[in-house]
Order: sequence, then C-alpha cells, then structure tokens
Amino acid sequence: MSQQPAHYPFSFRGDRIAPELAETVAHCPVRKVLTNTGTPAWLVAGYEEVRSVLRDRRFSLGMTSDPASPQQDPLVPPEFATDTLNCFRRAGMLATLHRGIGAGQQHLPEKRIEQLSRDAVRSFLAREQPADLMTGLVLPLTRALTFELLGLPAEGAPDDASLLGTFRIGAGSDTAVFEAGEPGFRYVYEQLPRLREERTGLLGELIAHADEKGATSDEQLAELFFFLLISQYGNPATTLALTALALMRCPGLLRRLREEPGAVPGAVDEVLRWGVFLGDGLPRIAREDVTVGGVRVRRGELVLVSTDGANHDPRVFPEPDRLDIDRPTGAHLRFGDGRHRCPGRGLAVLQAVVGLRTLAEEIEELRPAIPLDTVAWHPDHAITMPRALPAYARGTGPGGGAATRA
Ligand code: HEM
Repeated sequence: MSQQPAHYPFSFRGDRIAPELAETVAHCPVRKVLTNTGTPAWLVAGYEEVRSVLRDRRFSLGMTSDPASPQQDPLVPPEFATDTLNCFRRAGMLATLHRGIGAGQQHLPEKRIEQLSRDAVRSFLAREQPADLMTGLVLPLTRALTFELLGLPAEGAPDDASLLGTFRIGAGSDTAVFEAGEPGFRYVYEQLPRLREERTGLLGELIAHADEKGATSDEQLAELFFFLLISQYGNPATTLALTALALMRCPGLLRRLREEPGAVPGAVDEVLRWGVFLGDGLPRIAREDVTVGGVRVRRGELVLVSTDGANHDPRVFPEPDRLDIDRPTGAHLRFGDGRHRCPGRGLAVLQAVVGLRTLAEEIEELRPAIPLDTVAWHPDHAITMPRALPAYARGTGPGGGAATRA
C-alpha cells in the first residue's frame, strides 16, 4: 500500500528545526511532500542537494509565477517577487538597486544604524519590565531602519500587523495577503509624487532612474518598492528576534560580546545559520528532467528548497542544533545561493552586526520572562516570527538603566 507523502511545512518555530525536517536531512535529503495546496512537491533539505538546486539554472524561480505551475500556496507569487531583478533591470534601476542595498550602500550609514539601534534599546530599557522585545524593540527598530533606508515617512505607513500579514501562507493566504498588502501598496503608491520631487532615500534615487527610462508604470514601481519595503522589514526583524532569543538561551554570551566586540560578526553569522527562518520552502520549477540526490525530478515538477535543512545538515555543521559562535563562518545558505542569492545580504548583515554590538554595549542582562520553550510563533507565515518575546532587561548604565556614553 503506498503511503501518502507528509504535509509540508512541518513547523513555524524559529528556534528549533522540526524533527521531520531533521529526519529528512539525515536520511532522505530529497523527498516527496504535499504542499498547502495539496499538490505533490520535492522537498530538498540536504546541504549539497540544496546548493546544487539553487545553483542549477534548470530550476526556475520565475516559472512559479505561472498559474499553470504546481503551487506551494493558493497565492500564485507575482512576477515582481519571482523575477525581481529582471523587473528592476527593465525599469533601468538595477545598478542603483545593487549599490543601494549592498554592503557599501550610502542611504543608511553605519553611524546612523548605530544611533537608531541605541535609541531603540534605550527606549526598551525605559519600559516597565518585563516588556515585550517584539513590540518594544525588534519591530520598532526594524521599522525605523526600513523607512530611513527607503526615504519614506513613518506617518501614514501600514502598521506591523499589516506588514507581517504579507508573509501569510497556507489556506486563505491569497485573500489574506492581498488584504494585508493593500494598505502598504497604497501608501507607497501615494508617496511616488513626493519621491519624484524630493528624491529622498533609496527609493528617491531609484525613481529618478526609472523616470529617465520611462518604461515603468506607477503601479509597477509601487509593487517593486513595496517588495523592497517588506524585504528589508521581514527577514531583518526575524534576525533581530532570533538574536535576542539566542542571547537569552546562552547566559554569558552578552557579556562575552561586550568584552570581545570582535566576536560579534561570528555571532551574527551563527544566528543566521542556527535560526529557522523559513515557514515554507524556496520554490523552483524544473525546466527539464534533472537528477538531484539520486532522485529523478521531472520537467514541470515543483521543488521546495529548505535552506534551514541545509543549515542544520550535520555533515557540514556538526551538532547543528548547538548555537556556537566559534564555528567557522560563511558556509550557511541563509541568503540562498546561485543567481537569486540575496542582493541585500551586505546591508542585512551590517544592520545585524551593529544591532548586536549595540545590544551588548547597552544591556547588562537580558532574561526571558517566560520559559523560552513556550514562546508562541506566528503560524502560517513564510518567515518565522515570535508573536511576543517578554523579557527583563537591565542596562549597563547606572542603576541598570541606559548607559551614559553617547
Ligand atoms: C537577514 C535578512 C535577509 C535574508 C535572510 C534574506 C534572504 C533572501 C533569500 C534566501 C533570497 C533568495 C530567494 C530565492 O532564492 O528564492 C533573497 C532574495 C532577495 N532579497 Fe533578501 N534577505 C534578507 C534581507 C534583504 C534585504 C535587507 C533586502 C533589500 C533591502 C533584500 C532584498 C532581496 C531581493 C531584492 C531578493 C530577490 C533576488 C532575486 O530574485 O534574484 N533582502 N533574500
């Protein structure tokens, strides 16, 4: 009797890889699953197999936007989310985009990231304790960094619930994502005349190039800009949340990083490896028959790549569930690989490093206010995110408040 393949995704926890995923990585790195639409797909979870799919042009991300392709979720991903860089290229904005979200970007200088991070940490320390790290620090800081980078005003911007709602997957996600995304799209659309006039931030620079080329409608511009907004908001917020969680799981880590700031980049790299970020898989459609990990994937079939599985592959990362900031860095696949490898990774790492350095400078002690095992996670989100992270924090300043140094 043939057994029904397991349903994927397995879990929405960001602090622990699902047992089914660990099992897949260890014993069957390419296996059949059923997606949220009930469609069969190949889950690829071993490190070598993940890397080979992401690097192989016979697997297409763009084709997932074709409604005729097998789908992971009821929402067919729009072209601006699957062929993003080509959309920017056609609009004449690609070089500016790469400059604007790469490591050397100018719109969010390191000093400014540091100042926004310090202000956010201090305002968290001033709250009555215990306080929620999500609504008190993670989301407001990520929001401040996002709007400053893009050159958008905070007034009139969609709220956190709305921005997070754009990451919904699973049953009903097609209408939920549309409803959640609508205020954000409208807000960005309404900013276009001001961006044209005042040329603020990255979007101000991008729109100047698009207008020169004159080939892109305002609707298309707003879609691309909104995609950038949620790219800079979602994963960076999860990175910060998992960083705070890592600090609370590992007593002594905060002190070590304060005394040894040179260890901060390694700690960020390890949080990016250890944390489970994806609520789903990175989807690809096979353009032709391809063998991966000994399995024959047929032309037109859906493949779901789990970079979380790859980052927990014991063949590459011994004792993968252990958070160890002294591991060799640079091997994880958090930013993907191949032609779609995240072009914002330099900026994302810079924000995470400066954020963690500031946390270590400003916070003497960070303790969870609930057992960490009981943290609730948003269900059905493409990016994992704690609903709340209640904590006690004591500052390095006099009386446990904010530090006095500027
Ligand atoms: C920790 C933070 C981040 C993580 C973990 C992350 C992760 C990823 C991953 C895995 C991909 C590839 C998706 C695939 O292959 O299907 C990707 C693509 C992308 N990311 Fe990021 N990202 C982060 C931050 C950012 C930021 C800050 C920006 C821009 C402001 C950004 C912009 C993009 C864009 C435009 C793409 C599409 C690239 C393409 O389709 O070729 N990301 N990101």
